[in-house]
This record gives sequence, C-alpha cells and structure tokens, in this order.
Amino acid sequence: MAAFKLKPLFSLTSVSKNFFRTVAACPATDISQLKPWSEVPGPSSLPFIGQMHHFFPKGEFYELIEKPSELFTKMLDRYGTIVKMKGNFGMADGVLLFDPEASAQVLRSENWFPVRPGFESLDYYRKHKKENKGTNGLLTDQGEAWKQFRSTVNPPLLQPKTIRLYSAVLDEVAQDMVTRMKSLRDADNRIQGKFDMEMNVWSLESIGVVALGRRLNCFNRVLPPDSPEMKLIQLVHDIFKMANELDFKPSLWRYYSTRKFRKAMKMYKEQEDTARYFVDKTIEELQKQGGKKSDDEKGVLEKLLEINKDVAVIMASDMLFAGVDTTSNTITATLYLLALNQEKQDKLREELSSQQEKRPYLKACLKESLRMMPVVAGNARTIDKEYNILGYHVPKGTQVSFLHQCMSMMEEYYPRPKEYLPERWIVPKDDPLYHGNAHPFAYMPFGFGVRSCIGRRIAELELESFLARLIQNFKVEWDGPPVNVTSASLNYIVGPFNFIFKDV
Ligand code: HEM
Repeated sequence: MAAFKLKPLFSLTSVSKNFFRTVAACPATDISQLKPWSEVPGPSSLPFIGQMHHFFPKGEFYELIEKPSELFTKMLDRYGTIVKMKGNFGMADGVLLFDPEASAQVLRSENWFPVRPGFESLDYYRKHKKENKGTNGLLTDQGEAWKQFRSTVNPPLLQPKTIRLYSAVLDEVAQDMVTRMKSLRDADNRIQGKFDMEMNVWSLESIGVVALGRRLNCFNRVLPPDSPEMKLIQLVHDIFKMANELDFKPSLWRYYSTRKFRKAMKMYKEQEDTARYFVDKTIEELQKQGGKKSDDEKGVLEKLLEINKDVAVIMASDMLFAGVDTTSNTITATLYLLALNQEKQDKLREELSSQQEKRPYLKACLKESLRMMPVVAGNARTIDKEYNILGYHVPKGTQVSFLHQCMSMMEEYYPRPKEYLPERWIVPKDDPLYHGNAHPFAYMPFGFGVRSCIGRRIAELELESFLARLIQNFKVEWDGPPVNVTSASLNYIVGPFNFIFKDV
C-alpha cells in the first residue's frame, strides 16, 4: 500500500463557526497569488492510471468504495477540506469539498445554467440512441436546453397549491401501505419478504399519483416480477447502480462500447419504454374523461400536456425514475433512526395524536434523518470559470463535489452530531442546538439554487404523509446490528432489515 504524508491543511475550520472567512472560494482573479492546482492535496497519482490504484484490491480505499460515509470521512481526515481527485479515462478532474463556506461561495457565484455532472451515459443514450430525439429532461440536459425545460416544469412542480392537490391521495396511499404492511407481518411482527422492495412499492405508488395523476394500485396484489411496476422499480435500481459504474467511476465506455455500456443502453431503453407505457395509459384515460377539470383540479401531467407533450412525457418518466429510490431510502432511514430513539418516536406519536394542524416535530424528524443519513451524499457542479478555493487555483471545467453528508456530521456545525435530535430544527434561537447556528451550506440534502431538486416539495409531502401514518399505527423497533449503507450513485440502505412493527 502506498505511504502518504499528511499534508498541512489550509482549513480555517476552527474559526468557521462565525463564518468570518472572506475568501474560502471565489472566481480567481490573480492566479499568481494562489497555490497551484498541482498542490491541492489528494491521493498520490501514477502515470496513466492516476489515483485508481488506491481503489484497487489492497489499495487504501478499496474496502470503502461502497461505503460513502466512511470513504469521505477518511479522505477528509487524511487530506483536509479540499481533496483532489484526478480524472481518468475521459472523466474531468475533480475536487471534493468539505468546507461549507467554500461551497457557498462556489454555488452562489454560479450562473443561470449550472452544470451538474453525472448520468453522462444516460445523456449519451438520450442524445444518440433514443428514437424520439430532442428534449432530454432535467437529469441530463445542460445549458439553454436545461433552462428552457426547467422554466416550463417549475410552475406545476413547485407551486404549493398544485402540490397541495395531492395531500389527500398521498395520505390514502400511506394508509393503504400501512394496511399492506399489517398483512405482510409474521407472528414476530416482522415484514415478510424484502423490506426495501416494499418501501419501493410505496414510493412508486406515491410518485405515480403525482407524475401520472392516478393510482397504479401496486398494493392490492402480488406483483409478478415481470409486471411493469416491478420492472420499473428494478430498472431504477439497476440504472443508479450502472450510472455509478459508468459515470462516477473511471470507465472505458467513453472510448469504445464496453459490455457494461451496451447493457446500460439496453436498460435506459427499457426504462424509457416502461415509463412511456404508464404515461400512454394515463393519456388514454385522460382522453376518455374528456378534460372537464378546472385548472385548479388539474395535476402535473395534465398541466404539462397542455404546454408540450414531449416535455410532459419526459418529466413524468424522470419523476418515475428520480422519485422512487430517493424517498424509499429516506423513509427507511427515518424509521431506523426513530426505532433506535424510542423517546423521539413517542414524542412524534404524541404530536400526531394531538390532531394539531401544524406538525413541526414530524418535519423535524425527517430533516434530522436527511442530515444524518441523506440519500444523496453530495452535490456536484462542473465549474465554468477558474476559482480560488481555499487558496488553491482550481481550473475551469473541474468537477467540484460538495460533500454535505460529511459537513452536516461535523461537530463545529451541528453540536452532538451523532445524536438523532429532531429538536435542533425547532428549538428557539438562544438554544445551543438551534440549527440556524450551523453554516447553511453544511446541510443541502436537496441541492442548491436554480438546479436544486425539483421534486423536493413532492418528496416532503409523500414522506410526511407516510411517516405520520406509520408512527400512528406502529411502534417501530430495531432488533439487530447497525444497518448497512452502500453507495450506488445514491446511498442505499441494505438488509438485513431488523425492523419490528408492533401495533400501537
Ligand atoms: C428525499 C427525496 C429526494 C432527495 C433527497 C433528492 C435530492 C436531490 C438532489 C440532491 C438533487 C441535485 C440538486 C442539485 O444539483 O443541486 C436532485 C435533483 C433532482 N431531483 Fe430530487 N431528490 C428527492 C426526491 C425527488 C423526487 C420525488 C423527484 C420527482 C419529482 C425528484 C426529481 C429530481 C429531478 C428531476 C432532479 C434534477 C433537477 C434539475 O437538474 O433541474 N427528486 N434531487
């Protein structure tokens, strides 16, 4: 194993509580004043293979490749708050940032077309292989094409009054899922079958009512593995895994058509066809209904269909992709943390039984689990200008990753970071736990700015509805060793799932 010298860190983390730093990051004006790019700390690099040997068997980071939290913590401990990751095989060079103020300054100075890297192989599919070329959607489009798409879909997806339309039906979905879970329990109150798949069935049914405006009825039957619903769930999972291999790790597909690349192209087509099957079925049903709804009653798909059918189809398809594993893993993380913290669970149940309209503790429980176990470990941008980041010259075109999962677990931003304390999100300002004392860019589970998660409000409503019904119905316990989390573009909670769901 290669030996590393611990480099001195240029991090002012000890004073960062007051956020007095003036230049953590800014567009670079006088490069000669900065430490050169070659000096940014990071794993040592070899000709041709760059830093890859650290991730090979026997390499320092090999064991941690699929353990994102431990991998990034190790990088932070070893190299400091900025870490260079050399690009290989057509990937751009990158830096990992663990400094909220530097993150803030880079993100705040981005232009109107922030470029988020990732999903390049899906982008390739949509640009070169897809039959109906043209609009590609938010996940993969960049520049003017992305902006136009986003401006079209922002109003129906972000307007609170449109989202509120879904409250009743999402609550219905939540109640139906609770009924299903009750029917799936064995004598020991454990859910039979695959718990993660069950949470996926809930998340697909939930995002289905928003993306398509109708119930898919995934709960009422045993879905065969080749049913469109199960196929879609499996495809979403496989695609995130594949994107991790092709787009987030060095891969030769950018030079020639590898076996994995060919498999990916097939998968992307299958996902597109399956999503289109659901959208077409919905359009058929809408046509049968004859479009008699008022504007206020129309859901997302209907509103988008009136504007542009291509946009409507792609957006619905992307919602069925981006809205499945994200919410399912978030609800699993929240249940796990509440199972380990019974007094917090009791407090939540108390709030829910009070019938008060506002439910701040419910929201706080979700926020706190997104702090401790976020489904997305960090955000990334390809910078469109050269920067001074923490005193280093970082060239234009570098991929900067903002590792909020690590930042939001740092003691200096969130006191008692390893404790599940939903209270920190609701206590008054003079309480030392008050979340507002933390740097705002230490916690970004839904990303930042004009490119942030378009499904945020929908996801929050889905999660609040389901968590409320779960805690009203079950005393959730965990009986086993700590849960395992693995990385495949997203953070996946993997079994064994040692949940016990007792009737309240
Ligand atoms: C707990 C649930 C979710 C989390 C934590 C989450 C997180 C994120 C994050 C971190 C980004 C990148 C933002 C950035 O680059 O600044 C993103 C983008 C996106 N999310 Fe979500 N997401 C969730 C649920 C959803 C749902 C339910 C949908 C479906 C509507 C969705 C659709 C999208 C789309 C389409 C984008 C790309 C936006 C763009 O580039 O303009 N997400 N999400």
